[in-house]
This record gives sequence, C-alpha cells and structure tokens, in this order.
Amino acid sequence: MSHPSTAARTALVVVAHHRTDSLTAHTARRTAARLESAGYRVDLLDLQAEGFDPRMNAADQPDWGNREKPYSDEVQAHMRRVLDADLVVAVFPVYWQSVPALLKGWIDRVWNYGFAYGRSKPRLAGKRMLWLGLAGATSDDAIIEGMQSVLETNLNEGIAYYCGFAHSSVALLPDAEERPQRIDAEGNLLVGDAVAGAERDVQYAEFDRRAHQAVEEFLAAEPVAV
Ligand SMILES: Cc1cc2nc3c(=O)[nH]c(=O)nc-3n(C[C@H](O)[C@H](O)[C@H](O)COP(=O)(O)O)c2cc1C
Repeated sequence: MSHPSTAARTALVVVAHHRTDSLTAHTARRTAARLESAGYRVDLLDLQAEGFDPRMNAADQPDWGNREKPYSDEVQAHMRRVLDADLVVAVFPVYWQSVPALLKGWIDRVWNYGFAYGRSKPRLAGKRMLWLGLAGATSDDAIIEGMQSVLETNLNEGIAYYCGFAHSSVALLPDAEERPQRIDAEGNLLVGDAVAGAERDVQYAEFDRRAHQAVEEFLAAEPVAV
C-alpha cells in the first residue's frame, strides 16, 4: 500500500556490519528496497564501506560549555544526512544485547551535544526511528523477552526519545544464525547442526518474512499527514 504523504521524503538506512554478504547487509538492502517502493528517497549508509571510525576523538568529544562546538568535517557530513532524513532505520546484529561497536560509535560521535540533544528544541525532533536488530538466539529461547526489553530501554528511551524523536521502535529478529544456539541450565553454549538445503531456504524465507513484516508495521504506524 502506498502512502501519499511519503512523497519525496527521505529514509536514512544505516547498516552496521563488517561483511556485505551478511544477513544483516541483505536485510538492510531489502529494507531499503521496500522503503523506495513506499515512495522514500533512500540514503543507504554502510558504516563499514564508508570507513566510519567508531572511536570517539578529541575533535568530536562534546564540550559541555559550548553546544555550538564545530565538530569534525566527517561528523558534520553525517549530521547533515541525519537532518535530511524523515526516518532513520538502523540494521545491525545484536551484540551482547546491544548494538555493535560500529553503530554505537556512530551514535556517540554523530548524535552529539548541541545537535541531537542539549537544546530546548532538539534538531532531530519529530523524526521516526526503527531499530532492526538481528539476533542469533532462536525465537523460542526465553532470553528473547529480556533482550527485547533491554533494547527498548536503551535504544528507545535512552537514545531516540532522549533526542526528541517522535516515534522509535525496536524490531528484534531472532533465528539469524544457521546453527541454532542456546544456553543450557548449566550455562553451556549448545550449538545445533547447521540447517541446509530446503530447510535452510525455509528458515531464511521465514526470516525475510518477519523482517518485511517489521518494516510494514513501522510504515503502517506512520502518522497521517495533516
Ligand atoms: C560479539 C557478539 C555478540 C553477540 N551477542 C548476541 C546476543 O547478545 N544475543 C544474541 O541473540 N545473539 C548474539 N550474537 C549473535 C549475532 O546476533 C548473530 O551472529 C548475528 O545477528 C547474525 O547476523 P549476521 O550473519 O548478519 O552477522 C552475538 C554475536 C557476536 C559476534
């Protein structure tokens, strides 16, 4: 279904993975294609391919006494891309129930004081955010519920709403590994056999379906234009 209000709007799709043949990168490409078909201009930001350095440095460290501090040219270019976006979709593998360092460092350096927060009217106010996190845990693993909750607290409350976003959702996509993993009662990591052939095709089709559904739900929750 197309959304007339989305004409000429921009979506920034941020992919945080070190391999272009990863399931994460594949999911980001599919997400970008879906957003384009919904009428968005897509800016695909592949942090690894663009050589983004996630380490904080002196030029980009906030100066609490000066919210107008001119950050590095690199960070200012990223800030413009965020400003140009009506919605931001981050696609990443869940690492330690959080975002990987590559994405964390992008937020640390770019979503900076005076830009993303620290003003009575944040410059990111009103934007919408989807966090699409791929998890190695299987969907029937009891760990998923707590993972969803910790990600929502961290990413929605701690970052997006703190920076004035109008809406932020976390879509957790379990079963991202071809070898199912779980921790048993004694704390041992149990790694199952790799799925293969038709079974693998079914697993990935189901994974794609859930990723697609998460993007559809996010788009459907879009506020109606006035
Ligand atoms: C450092 C590291 C930490 C991870 N932490 C978690 C975790 O906390 N929960 C989880 O379900 N999977 C975890 N995983 C598994 C990844 O989420 C999984 O490998 C990834 O989503 C697969 O997607 P990819 O093929 O695109 O990398 C972790 C993997 C690594 C390498």
